[in-house]
Amino acid sequence: MPIEWLPEARQLHLHSGSLSDVIGVLESGALGQPHFGGRLATGRSYRHLGRAPFPGFDNRTGDPVPLVVPTPDRGDYRVPGLVVIGADGSPALDLRYVDHVVSAGKPDLPGLPSTYVESDGEADTVEIRLADEPTGLEVVVRASIFRDRPVVTRSLTLTNRGPALLRVETAMSVVLDLPDDDWHLVTMTGAWAREREPVDRPLAPGRRSTASVRGASGPDTNPVLILRRPMTDETTGEALGLALVWSGDFLGEVEVEPFRTARVRLGVNPETFTWHLEPGASFTTPEAVVVRSEAGLDDLSQTFHGLFRERLARGAWRDRPRPILLNNWEATYFDFDADRLVEIAAVARDLGIELFVLDDGWFGQRDSDDSSLGDWTVDRRKLPDGIGSLAARIRGLGLAFGLWIEPEMASPRSRLFEAHPEWVLGVPGRHRTESRNQLVLDLANPAVVDHLTDALTPVLREAAVDYVKWDMNRNLTEVWSPTLPPERQGEVRYRYLLGVYELYRRLTAAFPDTLFESCASGGGRFDPGLLAYAPQAWASDDTDAIERLRIQHGASLVYPISSIGAHVSAVPNHQVGRITPLETRAAVAVFGAFGYELDPTRLDDADRAAIREQIAWFRARREVLQLGRFHRLRSPFEGDGNETAWLAVAPGRGRAVAAWFRVRSRPMPGPSRLRLRDLDPDGRYRVTPWPPSGDAMAAADAGVRGGDELMVAGLLVDPDPREAGLRGDFVARLFDLERI
Ligand code: DGJ
Repeated sequence: MPIEWLPEARQLHLHSGSLSDVIGVLESGALGQPHFGGRLATGRSYRHLGRAPFPGFDNRTGDPVPLVVPTPDRGDYRVPGLVVIGADGSPALDLRYVDHVVSAGKPDLPGLPSTYVESDGEADTVEIRLADEPTGLEVVVRASIFRDRPVVTRSLTLTNRGPALLRVETAMSVVLDLPDDDWHLVTMTGAWAREREPVDRPLAPGRRSTASVRGASGPDTNPVLILRRPMTDETTGEALGLALVWSGDFLGEVEVEPFRTARVRLGVNPETFTWHLEPGASFTTPEAVVVRSEAGLDDLSQTFHGLFRERLARGAWRDRPRPILLNNWEATYFDFDADRLVEIAAVARDLGIELFVLDDGWFGQRDSDDSSLGDWTVDRRKLPDGIGSLAARIRGLGLAFGLWIEPEMASPRSRLFEAHPEWVLGVPGRHRTESRNQLVLDLANPAVVDHLTDALTPVLREAAVDYVKWDMNRNLTEVWSPTLPPERQGEVRYRYLLGVYELYRRLTAAFPDTLFESCASGGGRFDPGLLAYAPQAWASDDTDAIERLRIQHGASLVYPISSIGAHVSAVPNHQVGRITPLETRAAVAVFGAFGYELDPTRLDDADRAAIREQIAWFRARREVLQLGRFHRLRSPFEGDGNETAWLAVAPGRGRAVAAWFRVRSRPMPGPSRLRLRDLDPDGRYRVTPWPPSGDAMAAADAGVRGGDELMVAGLLVDPDPREAGLRGDFVARLFDLERI
């Protein structure tokens, strides 16, 4: 069992791989956390850890060691994990251990996405009950540990067993007190079209946080905290990763107090949240996932990738090779009709595309972004014979059919808004802020969720959709729902997300064979919460290959490449105007859920032939790329950012694909060797550069090489552009590796 209970020490020890999570009941009955970090032996008491005869964790007058659920106003002067106000108006809870239950497996959280197991042998769970007698608040700390992954998950369930209303103001999913601050904190920043850029800073006294108040996880941040030791790099050193399985407002924070201990907390953002817990009612926090490695960030990412791909994503498409799609958005925007779409699809089919996706503009009277969201009936001006007929024509070509929807919104110019103005978020008597000319439906209202289920199901059924792109193009403002009294408006953002998850649950259950892709103006809600429903997400509206190097590289810190939607688009690029070679665009996009987003009818014969070859090449390596282990070899965020290199290695190590990208061409750079990882050191691999070329660099790298040589000496890259053949800016080279 990966959970050990030592009754004499009153200690729980959750352990897996390099991770030990030790929780103990203190003399006072409070729940302590004497250790979270490297692996410790079982069968021993660690109650003495955390205590010190000098200031540090004892920077408090209450309980002496780190607590699992720190509360305010009782002598611990750091940021709290749980703030609940009782009838007397005080948050000074006194949570004492009542009992605990260890069980095999891992339970689902009510109404919330979470990681899961397929058999009870994969994980153990302990539920530890604490109680605050004066208020009657019961707190269940739920901690699961995976047997074969260094992963712990945490969530809390609060139940009001007292007679009076309790007000929950802060309910972090996890708090970890680390005994020192010798860490760098890595968070993600960015904006629309440049999402998920890592920011790496040493900890310092005070608080450092990353947070969202948008009602979505946001393009400018991500519900993830990574802590690495100063010497930790991709392949060596200790690292911790925390991720919240949640798609809304969150707070991730590290507080270093004057004695240089570090408190890490992650959960729903208290700034935009309160919850009224009526007598008898319960509230469950989202799940936090905590991962540990002592072999560097690459290893930390491997654990996240495996967990998210295999035990967070669900459904028929989880393990299946994803179809190569063509999306019409950048090809036509709103300007299309059925014949035009079929014309595009026919050429796409000839190129080898497998799935045609009809994006925005097929419903209501939507010729631009200023109308019709909410009116999920086909626009007969564009598609006179309906969506079913279009889908049939596309299928007749031999392609699968996919459709775009944006369920959570209503345009002010829509029949839905005319009929139900009370269904959008907004504060009565106040201005309602529009963004992209649209309003947000009140998904905290179950009637709205029912309506959307009823409105969308027949459309998706009529088209028998093979794929759904679920978009969300604005953030929340004036978050107020008429379904709740004024004192409960602090619940709306949370309840909104529960509504979104419920709608996802219903539609994914009604269409179990349909592949869902989430999207929020690109990567505005690219988070673990939605991965539980949609195994892939449109990573960014920015389709420029060079920008994508950064976006996809950053995302790969925690997200598997099978989840990262990546498309080849036209040049000049529609977002940044850059002109990059077609082969570079493809070389970047194959490291993702691969597709095209351009008008193939406008391509010349040479480009069509090149795309045909790209697709054939990808098909033969799709499983290596989508199911293999992904490694970051060179980072666009390091040095001058001129080079990026990636590697995907198939399970079993028989095949691999490496990629090297150079942004700017430089004369006489000097040879550089790209060392690979994770290969079979005793195997011999046939290395084939791609696209086929007779240039000097290809000639130097092609051939049969030992796995040891490829890892120790590496491949030759970045030789002088005059000789290598890789002339000009924005070049890419792929290397196919096959063990012989
Ligand atoms: C934003 C998405 O990210 C785009 O791909 C596209 O679907 C548009 N919305 C459509 O309005």
